[in-house]
Parts: sequence; C-alpha cells; structure tokens
Amino acid sequence: MAIQKVGVVGCGLMGSGIAQIAAATGHETTILEVEEKYLEKGIASIHKSLNRFVEKGKMTEADRDAVAGRIKGTTKLSDLASCDIVVEAATENAEIKKKLFSDLDKLLAPHALLASNTSSLTIIELAAATNRPDKVVGLHFFNPVPIMKLVEVVRTIATSDEAYTEACDFGRKLGKEVVEAKDSTGFVVNRLLVPYMLDAIRCFEQGLASAEDIDRGMKLGCGYPMGPLELLDFVGLDTTLYIAEIMFDEFREARFAPPSLLRRMVTAGRMGRKSGRGIYDYSK
Ligand code: 3HC
Repeated sequence: MAIQKVGVVGCGLMGSGIAQIAAATGHETTILEVEEKYLEKGIASIHKSLNRFVEKGKMTEADRDAVAGRIKGTTKLSDLASCDIVVEAATENAEIKKKLFSDLDKLLAPHALLASNTSSLTIIELAAATNRPDKVVGLHFFNPVPIMKLVEVVRTIATSDEAYTEACDFGRKLGKEVVEAKDSTGFVVNRLLVPYMLDAIRCFEQGLASAEDIDRGMKLGCGYPMGPLELLDFVGLDTTLYIAEIMFDEFREARFAPPSLLRRMVTAGRMGRKSGRGIYDYSK
C-alpha cells in the first residue's frame, strides 16, 4: 500500500525538516508537538527554509504555498490516527520514545509503519514497545534535512522484508538516497563520524593546531564542506556528547570515549551554534 499520509512526531530541527520534505514530495503531513509554541517555531523554520528555495529560484511561490498547505500541526496524538507512516523525531529520551511507540501502536491502522529518526538508540528497543515489531524501522536523516541527500534505513532482527522494502521506497520517494543499515548503535554514518569529531576535539585539546587550522585542514585537504569542529558546533556539543556516551557504553572502545574538553564545554553551556558559543563564538 502506497504511503500517502505522513505523521511526524517532534518539530525541532530534524522533525521540521522531515515534515518539510514529506510535504514537498506530495504527502499530507501532520506534525505532533507537546506544545503550541514548539509547533509555531518549527513551522516558522519550515517556511524560512521553503523561502530559501524560492529565493534561489529552485521553487515557485505557488509550489511553496502548496507544500506549506500540506502541513498541519497538532498537539493531539489522535490526529495521527489515519497516517500510513509516523516518523518519530522527538527528544532523544528512550522512555519518552518507548511510550510514544506504544501509544502510536494502539492508535494506528494495522498496515501503518512506525519509524524513528533516533541517532543513538537501537530501533529494536522501540519495536519491543509495540505489538507490530515487524513494521518498525529506523529512518535516520541528516541535518539540514531538506539539503542532505541521505537517509539511512535501518532494519532490526524483527523487521519484515515487506515493511523494510516499503520504508526504503518511502525514503526514495522523499528524494533521498538510501543506505541500508543494520540496527547497530550509530548505524553507518555516526559510527564513523562521531569518532572523527571526537578525535578533532582531542587534537584541539592537545594543541596540535588551532581550531581554524584543524577545520581548514579537513576542508581544503579532503574537500569536506565543513571542518570537524565547525560540524561539531553545527550538530551541537550536547548532542554529540550524548551520542558518544551511548556509543561508548555499547562498544567500550576508546575512540568513542567523550574527551574531557567536550564534557567541560557542555557543562559550561557551550553547546555550539544553538547556544551562541561552542568551539567558535557566534554571539556576534
Ligand atoms: N533549507 C533550505 N536551503 C538550505 C538550508 C535549509 N535548511 N540550509 C542550507 N540551504 C541551502 C542554501 O540556501 C544554499 O543553496 P545554494 O546552493 O542554492 O546557494 C546551499 O544550501 C548551501 O548553503 P549555504 O550557502 O548557506 O552554506 P554552505 O555552502 O556552507 O552549506 C551546508 C551549508 C549544506 C550545511 C554545508 O556546510 C554542509 O553540507 N555541511 C555539512 C553538514 C553535515 O555534515 N550534516 C550532517 C550532520 S550529522 C547528522 O545530522 C546526524 C546526526 O545524527 C548527528
């Protein structure tokens, strides 16, 4: 059955981006948030992003309005009842996510898929909170979602072939390239990216080079769009610390161990771009 109605839980950076691309590819999209004010903020960021496409001549004003018109916000879980898939992009808290999966499982039609955008938890933990573990997958997107071309589609030991194929088709329908990944903490990209960013902090902490030169080195020497420390500020130091702790807990390998400078910066409130200061100062 083709996916037509999409639900997204969470209207933060990732959720708003996922809702945007779902609506942009023709799906009726409903976003669930806990409070009106978060919905307003998330929907405003979608409008801002759509306007960027219009300004660059990549989208007409009429298309922008049509995309915006396909997005509805709600604070009532029951408004997701008719969705063919719900993509959860709520806060990275296992208990909140498990409760959501359990509630959504009771609400949705039997054919509906449940997906999580989690970057650190295993999908099977969430699947186990439902009575449809065969229909639970990971859909891991990358920030900024409307621009980054990848989605990792994650299958657990319980995901059915049918549901997995449907999820991969949905990822492609959203305009993304699909990487198929097993349900191992960090999947493919974060498994490689997180130790790289942690190593960059270690280099900086040990005085190997200035932050600017570490970033310039990787941008100019390897052609990366951002250096690792810029990327750390972009992803968020708190988010990176959280993911690293879960990965270290899982693999017990030194390369996943959060460096002490990262802990200290998070303790000091230096979370990166979103807090105005991380490795770099964004206050000006
Ligand atoms: N909406 C619409 N358009 C956007 C946008 C958004 N949210 N963000 C950027 N753009 C557009 C710009 O308008 C611009 O369009 P143009 O090519 O037509 O001029 C284009 O994207 C490039 O943006 P900018 O000119 O503003 O800046 P950059 O050239 O520096 O690109 C970037 C910005 C796309 C963010 C680029 O620096 C980049 O690719 N950085 C790496 C991002 C990355 O690695 N993301 C993954 C993070 S890891 C993750 O998400 C996983 C998690 O689990 C941790």
